[in-house]
Amino acid sequence: MEIDAFLFDLDGVITDSSTAHFKAWKAVANSYGIDLPDSLEVSLKGISRRNSVEKIVQYANIDLSEDAKQAFMDTKNAMYQDLVAEYNPDNLLPGVQTILEFARAHSIKIGLVSASKNAVPLIEALKIKAFFDVIVDPAKHPSKPAPDLFLAAAKRLGVAPENCVAFEDAIAGVQAIKAAGMTAIGIGERLDADYVFADLTAAHAMLETHV
Ligand code: BG6
Ligand code: MG
Repeated sequence: MEIDAFLFDLDGVITDSSTAHFKAWKAVANSYGIDLPDSLEVSLKGISRRNSVEKIVQYANIDLSEDAKQAFMDTKNAMYQDLVAEYNPDNLLPGVQTILEFARAHSIKIGLVSASKNAVPLIEALKIKAFFDVIVDPAKHPSKPAPDLFLAAAKRLGVAPENCVAFEDAIAGVQAIKAAGMTAIGIGERLDADYVFADLTAAHAMLETHV
């Protein structure tokens, strides 16, 4: 396969921040008397803050005004930011540094395709921002599972979607990659991707044999 770009999701692929997202949602929901079961975590992965609060409201079967939803999101975001406040390069998941250096060495372009509005400060804290040729702004495109964020990254990099390999830990993210016509690498388990690996170390080992 010809590979022109690697497109990375952030939360749960580059660093273990998806647990922090869910922990924060759970805590805020609790203060509203809602008990979020752990089984809901998987359906909140990869989707925007707004879509997450809508899903929670639907799950709990409650009526929240727009102001109350905004307050719910703001409190969750403040909690999330506290949880990742101390993140540093030690919080990179296995294989991240290696695969980024591998891409550089093979002139494979690198894009960040995260749904998170906290992505830029987080990759700065992780000290990997300089690797990225493009960072897509999630506020400007429809949320995953729509393909728009991935397609925007390919367009800005000047590469064809079919020559992009994208990495995702979320069901919504894998759906977005496939809808974009790219090769999907799932990180984790139970993902309907072209390949599924436990982490980027294993993904790198496979990709090394393809370039
Ligand atoms: C995704 C996470 O990367 O970003 C979701 O998987 C999160 O859990 C989403 O809701 C939006 O993040 P933020 O930081 O903009 O609230
Ligand atoms: Mg993710």
